[in-house]
Amino acid sequence: MPAPDFSPLARGYQALEWLAFGGDLERARFCLLERLAGRRSILILGEGDGRCVARLLPLVPGARIDCVDVSPGMVARTSSRLAPLPGREAVNLICADALTREFPPATYDAVVTLFFLDCFEPAPAAALVGRIKAATVPGACWLFADFRVPERGLPRLRARLWLAGLYAFFRWQTGLRPRALPPSEALIEQAGFRREESRTFQWGLLVSSLYAARGAPPSLQL
Ligand SMILES: C[S@@+](CC[C@H](N)C(=O)[O-])C[C@H]1O[C@@H](n2cnc3c(N)ncnc32)[C@H](O)[C@@H]1O
Repeated sequence: MPAPDFSPLARGYQALEWLAFGGDLERARFCLLERLAGRRSILILGEGDGRCVARLLPLVPGARIDCVDVSPGMVARTSSRLAPLPGREAVNLICADALTREFPPATYDAVVTLFFLDCFEPAPAAALVGRIKAATVPGACWLFADFRVPERGLPRLRARLWLAGLYAFFRWQTGLRPRALPPSEALIEQAGFRREESRTFQWGLLVSSLYAARGAPPSLQL
Protein backbone atom coordinates (compact mmCIF):
# COMPACT_ATOMS: atom_id res chain seq x y z
CA MET A 1 0.00 0.00 0.00
CA PRO A 2 1.54 3.40 -0.93
CA ALA A 3 2.32 5.60 2.05
CA PRO A 4 0.47 8.91 2.36
CA ASP A 5 2.30 12.14 1.66
CA PHE A 6 1.58 14.94 4.11
CA SER A 7 4.00 17.32 2.35
CA PRO A 8 1.28 19.59 0.89
CA LEU A 9 0.06 20.26 4.45
CA ALA A 10 3.45 20.76 6.06
CA ARG A 11 3.50 24.55 5.98
CA GLY A 12 -0.08 25.14 7.09
CA TYR A 13 -0.40 22.17 9.45
CA GLN A 14 -0.06 24.11 12.69
CA ALA A 15 -2.54 26.80 11.62
CA LEU A 16 -5.07 24.17 10.49
CA GLU A 17 -5.01 22.35 13.79
CA TRP A 18 -5.45 25.61 15.69
CA LEU A 19 -8.50 26.40 13.58
CA ALA A 20 -9.97 22.99 14.35
CA PHE A 21 -9.02 22.37 17.99
CA GLY A 22 -7.41 25.53 19.37
CA GLY A 23 -4.44 24.56 21.52
CA ASP A 24 -5.77 21.15 22.56
CA LEU A 25 -3.76 19.07 20.09
CA GLU A 26 -0.64 20.80 21.35
CA ARG A 27 -1.69 20.16 24.96
CA ALA A 28 -2.32 16.49 24.17
CA ARG A 29 1.09 16.15 22.52
CA PHE A 30 3.12 17.77 25.21
CA CYS A 31 1.36 17.39 28.57
CA LEU A 32 3.46 14.31 29.38
CA LEU A 33 6.56 15.09 27.34
CA GLU A 34 8.65 15.99 30.38
CA ARG A 35 8.35 12.40 31.59
CA LEU A 36 10.91 11.58 28.87
CA ALA A 37 13.60 13.66 30.59
CA GLY A 38 16.79 11.68 30.99
CA ARG A 39 16.02 9.09 28.29
CA ARG A 40 19.07 8.21 26.19
CA SER A 41 17.86 6.71 22.93
CA ILE A 42 14.56 7.87 21.49
CA LEU A 43 12.53 6.86 18.45
CA ILE A 44 9.98 9.40 17.18
CA LEU A 45 7.67 8.05 14.51
CA GLY A 46 5.59 10.31 12.27
CA GLU A 47 7.27 13.39 13.72
CA GLY A 48 5.42 15.82 11.43
CA ASP A 49 6.70 19.40 11.31
CA GLY A 50 9.34 19.10 14.04
CA ARG A 51 7.51 20.60 17.01
CA CYS A 52 7.94 17.49 19.14
CA VAL A 53 11.64 16.94 18.58
CA ALA A 54 12.33 20.66 19.05
CA ARG A 55 10.65 20.58 22.47
CA LEU A 56 12.24 17.29 23.41
CA LEU A 57 15.86 18.25 22.66
CA PRO A 58 16.49 20.35 25.80
CA LEU A 59 14.90 17.65 27.99
CA VAL A 60 17.28 14.93 26.86
CA PRO A 61 20.81 16.39 26.51
CA GLY A 62 23.21 13.83 25.12
CA ALA A 63 20.46 11.49 23.92
CA ARG A 64 20.35 10.08 20.40
CA ILE A 65 17.03 10.75 18.67
CA ASP A 66 15.91 8.90 15.54
CA CYS A 67 13.10 10.80 13.92
CA VAL A 68 11.18 9.04 11.15
CA ASP A 69 8.61 10.54 8.79
CA VAL A 70 7.59 9.45 5.31
CA SER A 71 6.67 12.92 4.00
CA PRO A 72 9.60 14.89 2.55
CA GLY A 73 7.83 18.20 3.22
CA MET A 74 7.45 17.35 6.90
CA VAL A 75 11.09 16.26 7.19
CA ALA A 76 12.16 19.54 5.56
CA ARG A 77 10.08 21.52 8.09
CA THR A 78 11.66 19.58 10.93
CA SER A 79 15.10 20.18 9.54
CA SER A 80 14.61 23.95 9.34
CA ARG A 81 13.00 24.07 12.79
CA LEU A 82 16.00 22.26 14.25
CA ALA A 83 18.66 24.27 12.39
CA PRO A 84 19.10 27.04 15.02
CA LEU A 85 18.77 24.75 18.06
CA PRO A 86 21.70 23.62 20.19
CA GLY A 87 22.08 19.85 20.25
CA ARG A 88 20.47 19.32 16.84
CA GLU A 89 23.39 17.03 15.81
CA ALA A 90 21.86 14.42 18.11
CA VAL A 91 18.85 14.11 15.83
CA ASN A 92 18.95 11.64 12.98
CA LEU A 93 16.24 12.72 10.52
CA ILE A 94 15.01 9.79 8.46
CA CYS A 95 12.59 10.18 5.56
CA ALA A 96 11.13 6.68 5.31
CA ASP A 97 8.00 4.58 5.53
CA ALA A 98 7.77 3.22 9.07
CA LEU A 99 6.04 0.12 7.69
CA THR A 100 9.11 -0.95 5.76
CA ARG A 101 11.95 0.79 7.58
CA GLU A 102 14.11 -1.58 9.63
CA PHE A 103 14.54 -0.55 13.26
CA PRO A 104 17.66 -1.62 15.15
CA PRO A 105 16.79 -4.34 17.69
CA ALA A 106 16.75 -3.59 21.45
CA THR A 107 17.93 0.01 21.04
CA TYR A 108 15.44 2.62 22.24
CA ASP A 109 14.50 3.48 25.82
CA ALA A 110 11.68 5.75 24.67
CA VAL A 111 9.24 5.74 21.77
CA VAL A 112 7.05 8.66 20.74
CA THR A 113 4.00 8.34 18.50
CA LEU A 114 1.85 11.48 18.40
CA PHE A 115 -1.16 11.39 16.09
CA PHE A 116 0.68 8.80 14.04
CA LEU A 117 -0.86 5.36 14.64
CA ASP A 118 -4.17 6.75 13.36
CA CYS A 119 -2.56 6.67 9.90
CA PHE A 120 -2.81 2.84 9.73
CA GLU A 121 -5.37 0.10 9.30
CA PRO A 122 -5.54 -2.34 12.23
CA ALA A 123 -3.34 -5.08 10.69
CA PRO A 124 -0.41 -2.85 9.63
CA ALA A 125 -0.71 -0.98 12.94
CA ALA A 126 -0.42 -4.27 14.84
CA ALA A 127 2.63 -5.35 12.83
CA LEU A 128 4.24 -1.95 13.30
CA VAL A 129 3.64 -1.88 17.06
CA GLY A 130 5.24 -5.33 17.31
CA ARG A 131 8.29 -4.16 15.36
CA ILE A 132 8.58 -1.04 17.52
CA LYS A 133 8.45 -3.16 20.65
CA ALA A 134 11.31 -5.30 19.31
CA ALA A 135 13.36 -2.13 18.90
CA THR A 136 13.01 -1.16 22.59
CA VAL A 137 15.10 -2.12 25.59
CA PRO A 138 13.67 -3.36 28.92
CA GLY A 139 12.33 -0.43 30.90
CA ALA A 140 11.44 1.56 27.80
CA CYS A 141 8.53 3.98 27.84
CA TRP A 142 6.13 4.95 25.08
CA LEU A 143 4.54 8.39 24.80
CA PHE A 144 1.33 8.10 22.83
CA ALA A 145 -1.20 10.73 21.82
CA ASP A 146 -4.03 10.29 19.39
CA PHE A 147 -7.71 10.57 18.68
CA ARG A 148 -10.06 8.29 20.55
CA VAL A 149 -13.79 7.52 20.37
CA PRO A 150 -15.39 7.88 23.82
CA GLU A 151 -17.58 5.02 25.05
CA ARG A 152 -21.00 6.65 24.86
CA GLY A 153 -23.29 9.63 24.52
CA LEU A 154 -22.75 12.93 22.77
CA PRO A 155 -18.95 12.82 23.10
CA ARG A 156 -19.03 9.54 21.14
CA LEU A 157 -21.26 10.98 18.41
CA ARG A 158 -19.13 14.12 18.26
CA ALA A 159 -15.93 12.07 17.96
CA ARG A 160 -17.37 9.92 15.16
CA LEU A 161 -18.37 13.01 13.20
CA TRP A 162 -14.98 14.65 13.70
CA LEU A 163 -13.14 11.49 12.66
CA ALA A 164 -15.27 10.97 9.55
CA GLY A 165 -14.48 14.54 8.52
CA LEU A 166 -10.79 14.31 9.37
CA TYR A 167 -10.25 11.02 7.54
CA ALA A 168 -12.08 12.38 4.47
CA PHE A 169 -9.93 15.53 4.56
CA PHE A 170 -6.64 13.63 4.92
CA ARG A 171 -7.64 11.12 2.23
CA TRP A 172 -8.17 14.03 -0.15
CA GLN A 173 -5.02 15.93 0.81
CA THR A 174 -2.51 13.15 1.48
CA GLY A 175 -3.84 9.88 0.05
CA LEU A 176 -4.30 8.41 3.53
CA ARG A 177 -6.24 5.14 3.17
CA PRO A 178 -7.76 4.25 6.57
CA ARG A 179 -11.26 5.46 7.42
CA ALA A 180 -11.27 4.66 11.12
CA LEU A 181 -8.91 4.46 14.08
CA PRO A 182 -6.98 1.25 14.71
CA PRO A 183 -7.09 -0.10 18.29
CA SER A 184 -3.76 1.57 19.05
CA GLU A 185 -3.94 1.56 22.84
CA ALA A 186 -4.91 -2.11 22.97
CA LEU A 187 -2.05 -2.92 20.57
CA ILE A 188 0.49 -1.08 22.72
CA GLU A 189 -0.75 -2.94 25.80
CA GLN A 190 -0.68 -6.28 23.96
CA ALA A 191 2.92 -5.55 23.02
CA GLY A 192 3.80 -5.54 26.71
CA PHE A 193 3.34 -1.96 27.86
CA ARG A 194 1.28 -0.78 30.83
CA ARG A 195 -0.43 2.63 30.91
CA GLU A 196 1.09 4.72 33.68
CA GLU A 197 -0.64 8.03 33.16
CA SER A 198 -3.29 9.38 30.85
CA ARG A 199 -5.11 12.65 30.10
CA THR A 200 -7.95 13.44 27.76
CA PHE A 201 -9.00 16.63 25.99
CA GLN A 202 -11.89 17.77 23.80
CA TRP A 203 -14.55 15.70 25.62
CA GLY A 204 -12.47 12.56 25.26
CA LEU A 205 -11.69 12.97 21.56
CA LEU A 206 -7.96 13.39 22.28
CA VAL A 207 -5.91 11.21 24.59
CA SER A 208 -2.33 11.41 25.77
CA SER A 209 -0.81 8.45 27.60
CA LEU A 210 2.51 7.38 28.94
CA TYR A 211 3.21 3.64 28.84
CA ALA A 212 5.98 1.70 30.54
CA ALA A 213 7.24 -1.71 29.47
CA ARG A 214 5.75 -4.36 31.75
CA GLY A 215 8.07 -6.59 33.68
CA ALA A 216 10.96 -4.16 33.91
CA PRO A 217 12.81 -4.10 37.22
CA PRO A 218 11.32 -1.33 39.44
CA SER A 219 14.48 0.76 39.12
CA LEU A 220 13.92 0.91 35.37
CA GLN A 221 10.24 1.68 35.55
CA LEU A 222 8.88 5.20 35.39
C1 LIG B 1 -1.29 13.34 11.43
S1 LIG B 1 0.40 13.67 11.16
C2 LIG B 1 0.98 13.90 12.82
C3 LIG B 1 2.29 14.61 12.88
C4 LIG B 1 2.82 14.92 14.29
N1 LIG B 1 3.27 13.74 14.98
C5 LIG B 1 1.80 15.67 15.10
O1 LIG B 1 1.59 15.34 16.26
O2 LIG B 1 1.23 16.62 14.55
C6 LIG B 1 1.03 12.08 10.76
C7 LIG B 1 2.49 12.12 10.39
O3 LIG B 1 2.91 10.77 10.19
C8 LIG B 1 3.60 10.66 8.98
N2 LIG B 1 3.34 9.32 8.43
C9 LIG B 1 2.17 8.81 8.00
N3 LIG B 1 2.33 7.54 7.58
C10 LIG B 1 3.63 7.25 7.75
C11 LIG B 1 4.43 6.11 7.50
N4 LIG B 1 3.90 5.02 6.94
N5 LIG B 1 5.74 6.15 7.82
C12 LIG B 1 6.29 7.26 8.38
N6 LIG B 1 5.60 8.38 8.61
C13 LIG B 1 4.29 8.39 8.31
C14 LIG B 1 3.03 11.77 8.09
O4 LIG B 1 3.95 12.16 7.10
C15 LIG B 1 2.76 12.86 9.10
O5 LIG B 1 3.85 13.73 9.26
